[in-house]
Amino acid sequence: MTVRIAPSLLAADFSRLADQVALCVEGGADWLHVDVMDGRFVPPITFGTKIIEAVRKLTDLPLDVHMMVVEPEKHFRDFAAAGASGLTVHAEVSPHLQRQLAHIRELGCRAGAAVNPSTPLAAVSEVLDDLDLLLVMTVNPGYGGQEFLPHSLDKLRRARRLLSDAGCAALLEVDGGISRDTIGDVWRAGADTFVAGHAVFSAADPAAEIGVLRRACEVHV
Ligand code: DX5
Ligand code: ZN
Repeated sequence: MTVRIAPSLLAADFSRLADQVALCVEGGADWLHVDVMDGRFVPPITFGTKIIEAVRKLTDLPLDVHMMVVEPEKHFRDFAAAGASGLTVHAEVSPHLQRQLAHIRELGCRAGAAVNPSTPLAAVSEVLDDLDLLLVMTVNPGYGGQEFLPHSLDKLRRARRLLSDAGCAALLEVDGGISRDTIGDVWRAGADTFVAGHAVFSAADPAAEIGVLRRACEVHV
């Protein structure tokens, strides 16, 4: 399995966004993770189309857009046009998840579904054919810099089994509390795509930290 590291721009210094994106590119980031929050699904409000557009101009890296918003379908078209490569919606606010995932694919984006720590994997088990990415939240969403929830490891092992038993090639992404201390266990539990906010942008050398995270997986292969 290939390790993908996706620094989360939520933890970046937005007064020098171009420099922060450049550090990610320099460090060999595979994707950039963009956290859209609407103040309803989660308390904070972050950003939307304008920032996706701005980041798109700064790099060719895939933009992995995590939609922590209610009624996410209202934004699919705008985000895809702004340059999103993947759109991930939360199963908790997507009663028509199959239709939403199909719509994301029609727009040419990777279709992702996210589950909160308290949401069972059964929330996505009927849509595996429509799924390009399963995001297992390893903190309750809304804020960067939180502690990794240890129960997530067992859930990730079950998520990996769910995908492989179904012959589903969807990527298995984790988001929340990923650091040089937690990533090895998470990789061994079956995740292949790692969002890291605080761990990258609070590091003394953010570009180097991306390599540290990647190598922490490789030593455990
Ligand atoms: C949290 C966001 C995350 C956040 C992760 O709700 O979805 O992407 O940026 O931050 P860290 O890596 O600091 O836990
Ligand atoms: Zn996120």
